[in-house]
Amino acid sequence: MKKNLVIALGALTVFFGAYSALTIYDHYFKYGRMWQTPAVRPHETPLLVMDDDAVPVHGGESVYRASDPLQLQSPLDAGDPEIIKQGQVVYATFCQQCHGINHDGQGTVGQSFAPLPTDLRSPRVQQTVDGLMFTEISFGVDRPGARQPALATTIFPEDRWKVVHYVKSLGIR
Ligand code: HEC
Repeated sequence: MKKNLVIALGALTVFFGAYSALTIYDHYFKYGRMWQTPAVRPHETPLLVMDDDAVPVHGGESVYRASDPLQLQSPLDAGDPEIIKQGQVVYATFCQQCHGINHDGQGTVGQSFAPLPTDLRSPRVQQTVDGLMFTEISFGVDRPGARQPALATTIFPEDRWKVVHYVKSLGIR
């Protein structure tokens, strides 16, 4: 009988010892155990409230989409050498693989397209109004079977204007 009591007391001591060790760990150590993370108890912290201007009510991409391409004006200075230089970086990042290092449509990736990527120094492209070129890069070319990818969700609007100014700065071949 006495033996059983000792065993029970021993088991209780081990149990409470382990329990307090875990509690101390949970309360005083920086990295708690898994069940303490927000992933498991999501509603214990207040929900984040969005800033008032997090979703644009004026301006934004939808305005570009809805506008007449011929009326769109670049917010940047097309003649600024710094803008052209930045446009060149955008070109190397997002266009060169298709339109080629020489802007002639001979990029490695572009060769699998039909029609092939356009020569960006051809008279037709060079004579395209800036706003229209911006729209073509953003939402694709409005022509059946056209293959220019829509890059609006890939490239920032300002960077799209920069690459337009860069392409136009190259001139007719
Ligand atoms: C995935 C390949 C690919 C990428 C990336 C790409 N293009 Fe193109 N682009 C094409 C193809 C293919 C065409 C030919 C479109 C057609 O005639 O159907 C084209 C056509 C064009 C045209 C001519 C549109 C017209 O009026 O026919 C312009 C301008 C142009 N691209 C600019 C760009 C610029 C600037 C970038 C980078 C921001 C870019 N493209 C990225 C494949 C690409």
